[in-house]
Amino acid sequence: MPDYDLIVIGAGPGGYVAAIRGAQLGLSVAVVEQEKALGGTCLRVGCIPSKALLESSEQYEQARTRLAEHGVIVGEVALDLGALLQRKTKTVSILTKGIEGLFKKHGVTRLTGRGVLTAPGTVEVRGERETSSVTASHVLLATGSVPVSLPGVALDGDRIGTSTEALAYPTVPKHLIVIGAGYIGLELGSVWRRLGARVTVVEYLDRILPGTDGELAADALKLFRKQGLEFRLGAKVSGASVEGESCTVTTAGGEPLTGDRVLVAVGRRANTGDLGLETVGITVDERGRIPVDAHFRTNLPGHYAIGDVIPGPLLAHVAEEEGIACVEAIVTGYGHVNYATVPGVCYTHPEVAGVGQTEEQLTAAGTAYRRGVFPFLANGRARSLGETDGKVKILADAATDRLLGVHILGPRAGDLIAEAVVAMEYGATAEDLARSFHAHPTLAETLKEAALAVDGRAIHM
Ligand code: NAI
Repeated sequence: MPDYDLIVIGAGPGGYVAAIRGAQLGLSVAVVEQEKALGGTCLRVGCIPSKALLESSEQYEQARTRLAEHGVIVGEVALDLGALLQRKTKTVSILTKGIEGLFKKHGVTRLTGRGVLTAPGTVEVRGERETSSVTASHVLLATGSVPVSLPGVALDGDRIGTSTEALAYPTVPKHLIVIGAGYIGLELGSVWRRLGARVTVVEYLDRILPGTDGELAADALKLFRKQGLEFRLGAKVSGASVEGESCTVTTAGGEPLTGDRVLVAVGRRANTGDLGLETVGITVDERGRIPVDAHFRTNLPGHYAIGDVIPGPLLAHVAEEEGIACVEAIVTGYGHVNYATVPGVCYTHPEVAGVGQTEEQLTAAGTAYRRGVFPFLANGRARSLGETDGKVKILADAATDRLLGVHILGPRAGDLIAEAVVAMEYGATAEDLARSFHAHPTLAETLKEAALAVDGRAIHM
């Protein structure tokens, strides 16, 4: 008899959620995690700490530049970076401990150490002091991803680092050079600009936020530039070096940039090395990712993979849904993830969020669509908040009116997009959205108005 029904390797959002769902469904479950804190990249050095820093730095910026327009007069505003970083650490600690509590509540066993497959169904747990071996009928690989760098850019874990270092710079950089205008570059670039750094973002493409709707990304670029972020677009970084406290970043054909810190944010890759995959014969693709079928089965029976280790978007909420679907499929024979409604959110100010297809994708596919656009400027709640930048764009099928894509640049776009996700999940039309109640005055009314605009009948425009 194996020791457990299910062993999950990796306690990130994919793994820990899968473990809890497995326990809910009556499986005996163990989770192998090498870090002391549970929660993976997302909780420890990703989504959560970055959101804590985004919130604190935005409060600082508001206090410095925006409170007076509300008639709130404060004295000189000062930054206590130590306290700001401590608050972030505390937020992370509360949430990671929360997962320990959830494991206890659901009877999930936590095994601390590096999990390595030594035979089908057998996982060696290599701890700091001892190594043990456990067996299970099902093994789920959820080991996530790690940052990548570029040729000629050697990460030194200090001056030239990744998001991990950028979440904890001990002082505000004088000039931070960010390589990559994706999610991480823009979020953490925004944090340090607000805290007083000069920030230059160097991006290979001639646009920011690849994959998001082009019009909204261009609008966002204008706003970020107005805020003081500097951009060098169409610039391919060819190297970075450090001498003392000074860093130099070279780009193909451009002037070198000098600063005191470099943040490399050019993507992440599947963390599938040293897992024993070759020992047991689990296949990986040319990028080290584990191919799976619709039920997250690898080529080895009884072995599954989810989240950043499989092809698809590298997002915490995708990993969570995959974890749940995978375990439900193991127990019930059925589990499903709808990849057509995965929302993406960049937590800058304002936020950029989208679900479904972009105008570029629809045009490339030759799909006939109608668009409805509504600006936050014309929304009463946005006016009273003083948050009028941005717009909502709704793309609907020209023949059926079904929602094909919803894209938002604006205040709380990341929360607003949830309505669009639910609508698309249920196959709603723009008309459905337009006829649904939206409390007044709320930011969500912009979605209703954009839906009305698809049919040329927005009221407040
Ligand atoms: P990314 O894939 O979002 O963006 C990387 C950027 O680097 C791209 O714009 C790319 O064109 C650029 N780049 C690549 N090579 C370059 C070169 N030689 N010179 C200049 N620019 C170059 O990757 P990022 O921001 O590192 O994020 C990693 C992953 O983490 C993403 O897949 C993202 O989905 C996820 N993530 C999601 C967040 C969210 O949901 N809010 C927040 C942070 C990360």
